[in-house]
Amino acid sequence: MSSHTKNIDIVEHFDEKRAADYDQDILSFIPGYDLIHESNLALFREKNLSAPSVLVVGAGTGKESILLAGESPNAKITAIDPSQAMLEALKLKAESLKLNNISFVNDYVVNLKGKTFNFANSILVMHFLPDRGEKLDFLRDIYKRLEPMSELILVDFMKLEDECQDRVIMQAMKNYQMSISPTPEKIDEAHEKIKTHLHRITEARLSDLADKAGFYRPIKFFQSFLISAYILRK
Ligand SMILES: C[S@@+](CC[C@H](N)C(=O)[O-])C[C@H]1O[C@@H](n2cnc3c(N)ncnc32)[C@H](O)[C@@H]1O
Repeated sequence: MSSHTKNIDIVEHFDEKRAADYDQDILSFIPGYDLIHESNLALFREKNLSAPSVLVVGAGTGKESILLAGESPNAKITAIDPSQAMLEALKLKAESLKLNNISFVNDYVVNLKGKTFNFANSILVMHFLPDRGEKLDFLRDIYKRLEPMSELILVDFMKLEDECQDRVIMQAMKNYQMSISPTPEKIDEAHEKIKTHLHRITEARLSDLADKAGFYRPIKFFQSFLISAYILRK
C-alpha cells in the first residue's frame, strides 16, 4: 500500500453533498461510465435468467439498479450500500420511475442474511477497500451469496505493474477528464483523492484475490484508461 493511502470512512465520504452531485460528476470522472453500465446490462441480458435475483453491492445513486430493475419486473434487485445519502438518492429515482422490484439495504454485504443471488455487481466499489484482507473478505462475502455458475461483474480503478506507465496513463486520463468536465477544478480534487482514498491493485493481484475467494480467473471485457471491468464467475 502506498504511504499516501489512508483508510477513509466511506459513509463520511459519500455524504449528502456528494450524493447530490454524483450523477453529474461521475460522467467526467469515469470516462465511459455509461458504456460500463450498458455493458453490464448487456451481460445480464445474455444470461437470460428465468428468475433473476441480483445483488448490487455499492449501489450508490443507482445507475445499475435502475437499469437492471427496468429490464424486467421479474428481476429482483437487492441494492446494498453503507451510505444512507447515496441510497436515498436511489430510492427517490426508483419511486419516480415506479420501480418496485428493488430492495434497499443500508449496510455491508457481510451482514446480509438469507438470500442467494444469480448475478452480482460491484461497480467502482472495491477500490475503496484496503488490501490487507478487506478486499479478500469483500469478494468472499459476495461469493458466498452467489449460486454456482453465477457471475460477479466487477469494475475498479486498477494499477499498472509498471509505475512509469501507470503515471503516464493517469495523467492522460486527467487531461481527458479536464477537457470534458464542466467543473475541471473538481478533477484536480478527485485526483488528489485517488492518491489518498483509493487502494488500487494490479490485474495479477486481482486474479490472486479472485482465486483465493473461489472465483475463476477474471475475464476483462472493458478498459478506459486505468478503469477496468471484469467478469468473475463462481
Ligand atoms: C463510486 S460509488 C459507485 C456507485 C455505483 N455502483 C455506480 O456505478 O455509480 C461507490 C459506492 O460504494 C459504496 N461502498 C463503499 N464501500 C463499500 C463496501 N465495503 N460495501 C458496499 N458498498 C460500499 C459507497 O458508499 C458508494 O455509494
